[in-house]
Amino acid sequence: MGCKMFGLLFWVSSMLCLACFARGFTPADNYLIDCGSPTNTTVGDRVFMADNLDSKLLSATQSVIGNTSRAAITSSDDSPLYQTARIFTGVSKYTFSISRRGRHWIRLYFYPFAFGNYNMSLAKFDISTENHVLLSSFSVQTPVMKEFSVNVTINSLAITFSPSKDSFAFINALEVVSVPDELIPDAAGSVKSSVGFQGLTLQALETVFRVNMGGPTVSFENDTLWRTWVPDQRFLVEKNLAVSVSNIRAVKFVEGGATPDIAPNTVYGTCMRMNSANDPSSNFNVTWEFDVDPGFRYLIRFHFCDIVSNALNELYFNVFIDSLMVVRDLDLSTYLVNVLAAAYYMDYVTELASSNKLRVSVGPSNLHGTDPNAILNGLEIMKMNNSDGSLTGSATVVTSGSSSKNNVGAIVGASIGVASGVLLAGVILIVCRKRSRRSPQGQSKTWMPFSINGGTSQTMGSKYSKGTTASLNSNASYHIPFLAVQEATNNFDESWVIGIGGFGKVYKGELNDGTKVAVKRGNPQSQQGLAEFQTEIEMLSQFRHRHLVSLIGYCEEKNEMILIYEYMENGTLKSHLYGSGHPSLSWKQRLEICIGAARGLHYLHTGYAKAVIHRDVKSANILLDENFMAKVADFGLSKTGPELDQTHVSTAVKGSFGYLDPEYFRRQQLTEKSDVYSFGVVLFEVLCARPVIDPTLPREMVNLAEWAMKWQKRGQLEQIIDPNLKGTIRPDSLRKFGETAEKCLADFGIDRPSMGDVLWNLEYALQLQEAVVRGDPEENSTNMICELSPQINNVGLLDHTVSSAQFEASSVNDLSGVSMSKVFSQLVKSEGR
Ligand SMILES: *[C@@H]1O[C@H](CO)[C@@H](O)[C@H](O)[C@H]1NC(C)=O
Ligand SMILES: *[C@@H]1O[C@H](CO)[C@@H](O)[C@H](O)[C@H]1NC(C)=O
Ligand SMILES: *[C@@H]1O[C@H](CO)[C@@H](O)[C@H](O)[C@H]1NC(C)=O
Ligand SMILES: *[C@@H]1O[C@H](CO)[C@@H](O)[C@H](O)[C@H]1NC(C)=O
Ligand SMILES: *[C@@H]1O[C@H](CO)[C@@H](O)[C@H](O)[C@H]1NC(C)=O
Ligand SMILES: *[C@@H]1O[C@H](CO)[C@@H](O)[C@H](O)[C@H]1NC(C)=O
Ligand SMILES: *[C@@H]1O[C@H](CO)[C@@H](O)[C@H](O)[C@H]1NC(C)=O
Repeated sequence: MGCKMFGLLFWVSSMLCLACFARGFTPADNYLIDCGSPTNTTVGDRVFMADNLDSKLLSATQSVIGNTSRAAITSSDDSPLYQTARIFTGVSKYTFSISRRGRHWIRLYFYPFAFGNYNMSLAKFDISTENHVLLSSFSVQTPVMKEFSVNVTINSLAITFSPSKDSFAFINALEVVSVPDELIPDAAGSVKSSVGFQGLTLQALETVFRVNMGGPTVSFENDTLWRTWVPDQRFLVEKNLAVSVSNIRAVKFVEGGATPDIAPNTVYGTCMRMNSANDPSSNFNVTWEFDVDPGFRYLIRFHFCDIVSNALNELYFNVFIDSLMVVRDLDLSTYLVNVLAAAYYMDYVTELASSNKLRVSVGPSNLHGTDPNAILNGLEIMKMNNSDGSLTGSATVVTSGSSSKNNVGAIVGASIGVASGVLLAGVILIVCRKRSRRSPQGQSKTWMPFSINGGTSQTMGSKYSKGTTASLNSNASYHIPFLAVQEATNNFDESWVIGIGGFGKVYKGELNDGTKVAVKRGNPQSQQGLAEFQTEIEMLSQFRHRHLVSLIGYCEEKNEMILIYEYMENGTLKSHLYGSGHPSLSWKQRLEICIGAARGLHYLHTGYAKAVIHRDVKSANILLDENFMAKVADFGLSKTGPELDQTHVSTAVKGSFGYLDPEYFRRQQLTEKSDVYSFGVVLFEVLCARPVIDPTLPREMVNLAEWAMKWQKRGQLEQIIDPNLKGTIRPDSLRKFGETAEKCLADFGIDRPSMGDVLWNLEYALQLQEAVVRGDPEENSTNMICELSPQINNVGLLDHTVSSAQFEASSVNDLSGVSMSKVFSQLVKSEGR
């Protein structure tokens, strides 16, 4: 079956010869730090460096070195690394220069002890790299080592410690060590999809379990990559169903299979097998169970080595993750060129974990003539970062109950509106003046400076200078000095943080004229962050629309990547649908919000010579101003669409789980229709007021798109709508809305409507709700869409084709301010049969 093929396809094909064995791998980067220690500390065959006060790696504003006497350390965890710690009372970071890009271990050692006023058991803090949040609101009571691996794609890696409010951070020791490239390949099998999973190279991984089945602990001294493998007994669900086997000397590393760097022979040389002793009718699984965090995907690596058979092709068994079979009739001997006891491994990526238990089972094959048996030699379970780049905390996709922290990376704020355009112009003027005064300033940039539109930034300039004097330089740049940003955010006051995302933190702020802003502070060293930063500025500087969130400025001084937006008082659409206790929105409000967002997207797709694809359309990226007017935000992932002669852009799949266009996922081809799909999911989300993925629900309900489509197709959508809306939606309006969402979710992009059509249909649903159009003039609303939208285009309302994008922008602006409904109902009337 397909899964089996996948197992085959995705071994590491890099080969290590059997000879270069013992410590095969020499890491190019090998930082071992005994934090706070005045002396070098030897652990096994490695030396952890002293890290006293003047560490060059550390930029910390406030750091304290703590030590404890050895007597205070419990005997079970008496690593010499635990005698000292660094304590951080402010945001601090270690920066490592990376000589060889690629995956690196980050191992963090924590041993909480009390030192002076610092009781480390009470510390609470976040740890992040440029692209990923590793730990958040983390605190430790017992000694622990946390192991992560990330692909470092630039020449440095910074590990930032951010104490929670009124707390502090600490660390006892720290490793940043290169990982062999072949350890984590890009692709893996997938438990559900026959296409498999691709994109592991960009994943941050946290090792949550590393288990040696049927054997003792394999300590880091006996592992080429200094990993520790723990025995499996405590994970076994029914201990009497399995027996351990050991035959380390039988293990062979052969071409096409595992290498000693994948796992040592001491792991492959022991296993658990079915306790089927001489009973040919045995039929049960051996199962291990692990605690995991729901809402994340996991990379599961199985290690196999047939040390139980006497000959080839004796052993056939099935492998399961939770209740899903990932390989049927696994025959290890055929995979590895007919060598018995060859070390072999395979990787699978799970779906988002929906429960806090993950089970792995092996069980007998039902092939005739085989003895029932099944084995497992080793298992690694690695947590994958969520779509916000985080390995921790509540992801946007997790349960509905949690707080607004869910809206990671969201920009929340108050609208500035047209009236304050004048104010803004003033601000920018001041800011620019300030800047020019302070301009000759030492700036160390690790990334390339760039300019927006070169000297032709009149798109922005004209917007802000509209109605004001021409005093604003037409080349007005949107650079804002770092100092002004610092002032605006009370020096990046942690208590002003309103969101955290993969890109960085979002602060609420106030410019010195009182304008409220949302300040998104990125991580300077991140290459991906940089790309998104630039995309966002480029997009927002070219695209101005009342339904797109406005960029007020940005700051690139001092290695900073900071974006300053208008503050959107009412936060995300998502927060008004569920999970944060806001009063429920009326159906009309919801329609208006959808219409606003559709306008913004329609403008992105058509307002410029080349379509712009947002790529991350979701309710958390639709923000609401004080009047609940919707604006689309977060253009970090946007891509310019196909040229005229192409039909798609081929690109790595990005976006948010639950909203992803399956076609884009399958073919990695991007068109505007991918946004249309995501928007269709948003429409159902708006109607049903529940998360797009809710792992806590019964299986058939987990995915909102599938669930809602099921009811839509049955014509019973009203069964699953937000209970708050019951009895308030006119049936026609609901029908129109449901049909529109359904069309957006068509399997193939070509069958989905354009954003303009969607907009038109939503307008119509609103009309039906308000009963402006009486006695439904249409029989077949499907045809309606096709017949009417060209009309609108011809009327020039939804300018598809005009050349001057900027001119266009304002015309759309102006018109969308006027009631489109009026024009609309006239159109409908003239079309009426
Ligand atoms: C620790 O080891 C490094 C490299 O081996 C050496 O340069 C350094 O002087 C040592 N530090 C101390 C305090 O012994
Ligand atoms: C901690 O370090 C200080 C200064 O180096 C030293 O005087 C003290 O004896 C150390 N305490 C312990 C418990 O090791
Ligand atoms: C540190 O805090 C922990 C947890 O509250 C407490 O159990 C412990 O007694 C405290 N230790 C000291 C030395 O105060
Ligand atoms: C790290 O990422 C880069 C850029 O995406 C990729 O080319 C490289 O293969 C990755 N390396 C590893 C070891 O995953
Ligand atoms: C490493 O493995 C050898 C052989 O299995 C064993 O004798 C030794 O105790 C192990 N070392 C550690 C530190 O576990
Ligand atoms: C083994 O587990 C799988 C998944 O839970 C289940 O479908 C299968 O029936 C089990 N097999 C036996 C023999 O119990
Ligand atoms: C993990 O983070 C990376 C960015 O570093 C992102 O490209 C990727 O999509 C994230 N993974 C998931 C499963 O969302």
